[in-house]
Amino acid sequence: RYRDPEAAEKMNPFAEQEAWEEHQIGKATIKFGSKDRKQAADDYQYVFEDGVEFIKASVMDGTQFEDELSSGNDDSSDAKTMLEMLQEDRKSLPIYPYREELLKAIQDHQVLVIVGETGSGKTTQIPQYLHEAGYTKAGKIACTQPRRVAAMSVAARVSQEMGVKLGHEVGYSIRFEDCTSEKTVLKYMTDGMLLREFLGEPDLASYNVVMVDEAHERTLSTDILFGLVKDIARFRKDLKLLISSATLDAEKFSDYFDSAPIFKIPGRRYPVEIHFTTAPEADYIDAAIVTVLQIHVTQPLGDILVFLTGQEEIETVDEILKHRIKGLGTKIAELIICPIYANLPTELQAKIFEPAPEGARKVVLATNIAETSLTIDGIKYVVDPGFCKIKSYNPRTGMESLLVNPISKASAEQRAGRSGRTGPGKCFRLYTKYNYDHDLEENTVPEIQRTNLANVVLTLKSLGIHDLVNFDFMDPPPSETLLKALEQLFALNALNSRGELTKTGRRMAEFPLDPMLSKMIVASDKYKCSDEIISIAAMLSVGNSIFYRPKDKQVHADNARMNFHTGNVGDHIALLNVRSMKRARDIRDQLEGLLERVEIELTSNANDLDTIKKAITSGFFHHSAKLQKNGSYRTVKNPQTVYIHPNSGLAQVLPHWVIYHELVLTTKEFMRQVTELKPEWLVEIAPHFYQLKDVDDSGAKKLPRGTGRAAL
Ligand code: CDP
Ligand code: MG
Repeated sequence: RYRDPEAAEKMNPFAEQEAWEEHQIGKATIKFGSKDRKQAADDYQYVFEDGVEFIKASVMDGTQFEDELSSGNDDSSDAKTMLEMLQEDRKSLPIYPYREELLKAIQDHQVLVIVGETGSGKTTQIPQYLHEAGYTKAGKIACTQPRRVAAMSVAARVSQEMGVKLGHEVGYSIRFEDCTSEKTVLKYMTDGMLLREFLGEPDLASYNVVMVDEAHERTLSTDILFGLVKDIARFRKDLKLLISSATLDAEKFSDYFDSAPIFKIPGRRYPVEIHFTTAPEADYIDAAIVTVLQIHVTQPLGDILVFLTGQEEIETVDEILKHRIKGLGTKIAELIICPIYANLPTELQAKIFEPAPEGARKVVLATNIAETSLTIDGIKYVVDPGFCKIKSYNPRTGMESLLVNPISKASAEQRAGRSGRTGPGKCFRLYTKYNYDHDLEENTVPEIQRTNLANVVLTLKSLGIHDLVNFDFMDPPPSETLLKALEQLFALNALNSRGELTKTGRRMAEFPLDPMLSKMIVASDKYKCSDEIISIAAMLSVGNSIFYRPKDKQVHADNARMNFHTGNVGDHIALLNVRSMKRARDIRDQLEGLLERVEIELTSNANDLDTIKKAITSGFFHHSAKLQKNGSYRTVKNPQTVYIHPNSGLAQVLPHWVIYHELVLTTKEFMRQVTELKPEWLVEIAPHFYQLKDVDDSGAKKLPRGTGRAAL
């Protein structure tokens, strides 16, 4: 496409700009821009055979604040301690000039909605201001985050700023990891964890302030928290409630909280140039990689932030970028690649906050987490493919899926804004202006309207909230989703036919797990294999990082994994065989503690795999599938064609009947974590859900539709 220099010049996204003068590429200085456009085009063509073509569309407003920024920068001396420097940093944040005003507003109002751009200091500063103003004398301050990585990293930062050890005065609490102590007064936690704290402390008596942070994300737990904290604020007049959000869509929060006042922290952002591609990109991964390289070889130093949809994509881009950079040799400056996603080991997460060394450029490959939850300083360029993974739920089939979807306009604006924090920025959108205008929704649909609610319903029921239809939802979930959740909990025997919590349900609610997993644990009591079952549950909770497959060592990793599949025992059992997983072991320890609480004895039945499989079936009987002639499977209820995931130990075995942990849709609908099953167990274990005809295995010859029932 770009064989001739003229075309190369035309496709060069940066050719239209006059301002590029010289650019240092490795040791050579290459002149770009108007001085010698032909030469520039040649060089450009040398680096890229094919490229992404952009046009500049608009400039997002910014506010200039050089003078404020430069103050305090000049007198940096080695004598300053780390703590002093951090204190200066705190004073340079946009929120700082509003400290007194904000404290006054909090004093005057019980509920306050706080709006301020990402990076203004809401999350790290407001709890500290309150602490400094004496609020922690009367109780703790909770600050909720939708993501656990954010809760951990922000708590670490605040403990540094306060000069205390993490876990002492400042701590965090995420599922299966409690880094707090008696001393803790500032507690950063996931919204899901605060929700669980209601179970033990329905009026949150030990808290003086609750800050529901990142409210604009509208996660399921945040939405449920809204209803609960609004309720307790009515009878606990001493409790302060802060709802903080990064977007200007604050009126909705204010309306919901009985017209609570809105406190706006004026943004301080440099202008951001928005670029769109001139034509749609067929492969956004490839386009993202090429764009990063284009920026790297043609644009002044400054870090790049790329938004990708998940771990797998991030690893792919990481690998290809490394490869292509190597191919370019020493002609170009060093490019440091930093991935960040929820399952990334904590030690590696810190890397994204480290500044790039002199002369090098950092490229951060992030999931949505970098959209508002995490602020990474020094980002000058944003590459936005325009996609994210979104959970969706079909209440009719009860199937949940995580699919790559276009982002909303609100998200696109947030992403672009990430580039203008420390200087004028540029955002490269890998979609056209037309796409943006016509195809993107204004806002993301709140999670409560696109997820399975079984877990939430179980939690609410155990909080004594029975009338779910009249619960004060900000945006109510579809009624068929609520109904489906009730049905599912009934099938699991967690609720009785009147919708009341059963003893099994009460026990299940003690576990911070999805109902199917907690049912599996509760059922293990009967099968005398709780020891094995909590190990499996712990492993499943760690996610798919157990069998870590680094891109460059996949064959090795796969061989190692297959060693655990002795005798085709199935994936659930194979998990049992993996040792030395610290996190899984921690989780397991906690589950063991919870077993005691619900009075289930720890018993091992390792020699009888059938009992273990039956306990699994007790939780996951909804997820059964039967082998078809062509090697695919058919789910039994709500028939659908699915396949065993190629990573499964049973992928070659193809048992007649299986149950699976979850479905993932990639090229096909795959079952992940699969275990063989005897069909009669379904009827034995869930007679209210399966009848003999569902599991009748004799039938190679299928009766015509309609006559089946009569024949039986
Ligand atoms: O919550 P909000 O987006 O308003 O800002 P914040 O998270 O409180 O971040 C304020 C500043 O703290 C950022 O600009 C970062 O410089 C710094 N910060 C950091 O260095 N490391 C973190 N883990 C979190 C924040
Ligand atoms: Mg924040």
